[in-house]
Amino acid sequence: MGEEERTGEKRREQWSSNLGFIFAAIGSAVGIGNIWRFPYVVGTNGGGAFLLTYVIVLFSFGLAFMVLELAVGRYYQTSILSAFEKIRKRFKWIALVTIGTTFAILSYYLVILGWVLFYFLTWVTTGTAQPFDEYINSLYPVLSFFGILAINFVIILLGVQRGIEMLSKIGIVLLIAIIVPITLLGLSQQGSEEGLSFYLTPDFAALAEPKSWAAAFGQAFFSLSVGMGVLLVYGSYLKQDRSILTSSIIIIVADLAIAFMAGLMIFSFVFANNLQPNQGATLVFQVMPTIFSGMENYGVIFGGLFFFLLLLAGITSSISMFQVPVSTLEDTFKIGKSKATAIIASLLSISGLLPALSYSSFNLHIGGIAFFDLYDLVFGTYGIAISGAIFSVIATWFMDRTRLLEQVNMKSPLKVPVGVLTLLKFLMPSLIAITLLSQIIGF
Ligand code: PHE
Repeated sequence: MGEEERTGEKRREQWSSNLGFIFAAIGSAVGIGNIWRFPYVVGTNGGGAFLLTYVIVLFSFGLAFMVLELAVGRYYQTSILSAFEKIRKRFKWIALVTIGTTFAILSYYLVILGWVLFYFLTWVTTGTAQPFDEYINSLYPVLSFFGILAINFVIILLGVQRGIEMLSKIGIVLLIAIIVPITLLGLSQQGSEEGLSFYLTPDFAALAEPKSWAAAFGQAFFSLSVGMGVLLVYGSYLKQDRSILTSSIIIIVADLAIAFMAGLMIFSFVFANNLQPNQGATLVFQVMPTIFSGMENYGVIFGGLFFFLLLLAGITSSISMFQVPVSTLEDTFKIGKSKATAIIASLLSISGLLPALSYSSFNLHIGGIAFFDLYDLVFGTYGIAISGAIFSVIATWFMDRTRLLEQVNMKSPLKVPVGVLTLLKFLMPSLIAITLLSQIIGF
C-alpha cells in the first residue's frame, strides 16, 4: 500500500521525537491505577510472590500486546475505527465497542480526577481535607468534574505535540521529582518495616492460584493502557525510524518502577501509622490525609505534593483516553480538531454527570447499584477485557502478517520470528477469556 493511500490527504500530526512519544506513553500508563490500585492488588494477592507474577505478565503478554497495538497504529497511520476498517470493511463498527468503553472509562476516571483536583485545591488553601463522605454527598464533585474536564479539553485542543506531548514531558519529570522524596519520607517513618513486609513478603502459594494470575492480567492491562485504542492512536503519530520493541520495554520498565515505588510509599506510611491499607477512595481521601495531618512538620507540604502527584499522573492518562474518540472523529469523519474536541467534551459532560452524581443527594442508581460502580464494573472490568480480546483477534487473525511483522521488527535490535505471532494468535484471546471468566465467576 502506498504512503499516500495510507495517510490520506491531510498531513498527520506527529510526535516531535521518539522521546516525546515515550513520555506520552509513560504518561498514559502511569495513572491513578499505579498509585492507588497497584499497591492494594499486590498486598492482597500474595505480596512479593505477586510481584513476580506481575513482572512475568508485564514482560510477556503486556509487552506483546503493547508492541502489536503500536505496530498496527504506526502501519495504518490512523485511529482505531479506520484501522479496523482497513483490515476488513466489516470490522469498522466493532471498533465502536472499544471506543465506547474508553469513553465510558474516561467519564468516571474524570470524576475521580475531579475529586483529586478538589482535594488538592482545598488542601493547599486550607491545609485540611474535607471528610470524604461529606464531600461526596455534596454537589462539589460535579463542579470538580467540570473543572477537570475543562483542563483536559484545553490540552487536547493544543494538539499532539503542544498539548499531550508537552504536558506528559513536564508531568512525568515532576512526578518523579515528587514521588521519590515522599517515598523516602515514608520509608524513614518508624514502623514502616511492617508495611514493607505486608507488601513484599512472598506468599508462594498465591502463585498457584488462578485468581492472582487473573489479578495480574487485569492490573497489567489497565496499567499499560493496552487494548483501548490509546496505544494504537499514539502509534499512528510515530515515525518509522525507531524500534517499537525498544520503546515498549522502556515504557513498561518506567510504569513498573513507578507502581513499585507507589507501593513502598503507601505501605510504609499506612503501617507506620497503624492504619489499614484500604482500597481506592478511602485510602486516598481519608487514610492519607489523616497521616499528613498528623505529621508534625511538613505534613501540609507533603499532603499537597501527594495530591499533586495524583493529579499529574491522572491527567496524563485521561488525555490519552480523550484522544481516542477525538481522533476517531478527526480520522473517520474528517471533522476538524476543535469541533471534534467540542463534540466529545459535550458528550462527556453528559455521561460523566451520572457517576459524578452517584453519591450526591440525587443518589443516581440503577437497579440498586450506583452509576459510578456500574461504569466501573461494566466498562472498567468487563469492557476493557472484551476490547482487548477484540483487538487481539483482529490484529493477529486478520491483519496481513508479513506487514505486521515488518512493523514490529523495523529498526529493532531483536527480530521477532513469525512463530511468535502464531503463538499469540491463540494465546492472547484465550488468556483474556480466562481472565474475564475468572472475574465473572471468581475462581
Ligand atoms: N493506565 C492508566 C492508569 O493506570 C489508566 C488508563 C487505562 C489510561 C487505559 C489509558 C487507557 O491509571
